[in-house]
Amino acid sequence: MLMKGKKGVILGVANDKSIAYGIAKACAAQGAKIAFTYLNDSLKKRVEPIAAEFGSEALVYPCDVSNPQEIKDLRIALEKDLGEIDFIVHSIAFAPKEGLSGRFHNITKEAFDIAMDISVFSLIEVTKELKPLLSNNSSILTLTYYGGAKYIPNYNLMGVAKAALEMTTKYLAEDLGKDGIRVNAISAGPIRTLAAAGIGDFRFMLKWNEAHSPLKKNVSIDEVGNSGMYLLSDLSSAVTGEIHYVDSGFNIMGMPAVEFEEGGKPRIAWNGTDK
Ligand SMILES: NC(=O)c1ccc[n+]([C@@H]2O[C@H](COP(=O)([O-])OP(=O)(O)OC[C@H]3O[C@@H](n4cnc5c(N)ncnc54)[C@H](O)[C@@H]3O)[C@@H](O)[C@H]2O)c1
Repeated sequence: MLMKGKKGVILGVANDKSIAYGIAKACAAQGAKIAFTYLNDSLKKRVEPIAAEFGSEALVYPCDVSNPQEIKDLRIALEKDLGEIDFIVHSIAFAPKEGLSGRFHNITKEAFDIAMDISVFSLIEVTKELKPLLSNNSSILTLTYYGGAKYIPNYNLMGVAKAALEMTTKYLAEDLGKDGIRVNAISAGPIRTLAAAGIGDFRFMLKWNEAHSPLKKNVSIDEVGNSGMYLLSDLSSAVTGEIHYVDSGFNIMGMPAVEFEEGGKPRIAWNGTDK
């Protein structure tokens, strides 16, 4: 039981397709005690049964990260109900729809500010608020995507937010290392979730990743969950500031494999299935 005796909070479960759900499942299977948060009342109905599934029915709290008071209230509630905690999972992102398709230069300041506030600054604010509760052997994990490192069609504004999130992870890791707090990010391959539904041509991203990754498959929330559990557990006690890819190896590819037609004409090899 790698997480036995560890307590923490997971922000970002919307339903049982959420990456945060996969992380919760892996941590609970290794004995962790987990508190959950929900964004609003309609998601509360979905998160409560999930918390109950992990024996955490008494540990479910509201937290809209765009409202600083709700983050403060979360700290007060966690202090009362859990005391010291050992991990935080930040699995939250949002960008207005206009920022996830179309011409990049048309992004508005309003959309930019919202995306950066919810998808990036919230990691800093949650960390700052919950830091007094964190043990001196604790771990913070956030979720990013390859579109923060390289251009990905339609990822647009979220790509800029993920780039900022990845650097935030590194600066936080340096800052908090002296307090015994590690900070890492998982860069997950594309997965069909509620958040992913907002990204234009997402089906094609899935197909492309499957066809051109070394492992020739897409990743599941269970696979991200297992890697997340490793980063939250003492197995990764010397790992911090890392952007850890869980993407079937897609990020190492500089060029898709090429096959040759009769007559020697090259074309891109397509190894994916048509789903
Ligand atoms: N699905 C993918 O392909 C993929 C790939 C790589 C990284 N990610 C990242 O993983 C994380 C989780 O996304 P997911 O794919 O599991 O989708 P999801 O929709 O299940 O989770 C996103 C969560 O963000 C929460 N959220 C949005 N605005 C919020 C706010 N103001 N306050 C509090 N919570 C808020 C939602 O309630 C939801 O629980 C995100 O950071 C996402 O960018 C997703």
